[in-house]
Amino acid sequence: MAENIFLIGFMGAGKSTIAKVLKEKLSVPLCEMDEMIAEQQKMAISDIFAQYGETHFRDLETQLVKDISEKDGVIVSCGGGAVLREENVSFMKENGRIVLLSATPETIYERVRYSKDRPILNGHMNVEYIRELMEKRRSRYESVADLAVATDGRSAETIADEIIAKL
Ligand code: S3P
Repeated sequence: MAENIFLIGFMGAGKSTIAKVLKEKLSVPLCEMDEMIAEQQKMAISDIFAQYGETHFRDLETQLVKDISEKDGVIVSCGGGAVLREENVSFMKENGRIVLLSATPETIYERVRYSKDRPILNGHMNVEYIRELMEKRRSRYESVADLAVATDGRSAETIADEIIAKL
């Protein structure tokens, strides 16, 4: 029974990109949480937030984390807020390892500035807001992670290799 790998971190930290490389390198299935929620609900993430609110989105996210954590040997690209609820972290830890991807606010801003589906950043698409929100979440991300990897200026290939070597 292989453990799952949950990639966590702020929006734009590189979770989806690294998850795809890990999927190829390890030949395992990939769960892209936001995509799965959007598919299930037949709605974009920003429309779910706009029509039903963040709490509803977080409930959908919790149900999905629970379902995924019952699988074996999958790579999971988590939504940036997926570890904010304690119960989600408990589900992840039951059958998986948590890997935190990090980047500076400046790097994050460059990666997400043209995104249309980041409702948390609606009306706040600037480095200062990203820095503030990242600071609020930093201790949460760091305290739940089994491994933390910096992504600034490094290739996806190198980062994926580091994760495989260290997990
Ligand atoms: C969120 C991050 C998003 C998505 C939702 C909320 C967050 O995922 O789940 O917009 O609270 O950080 P990404 O980290 O993939 O952008």
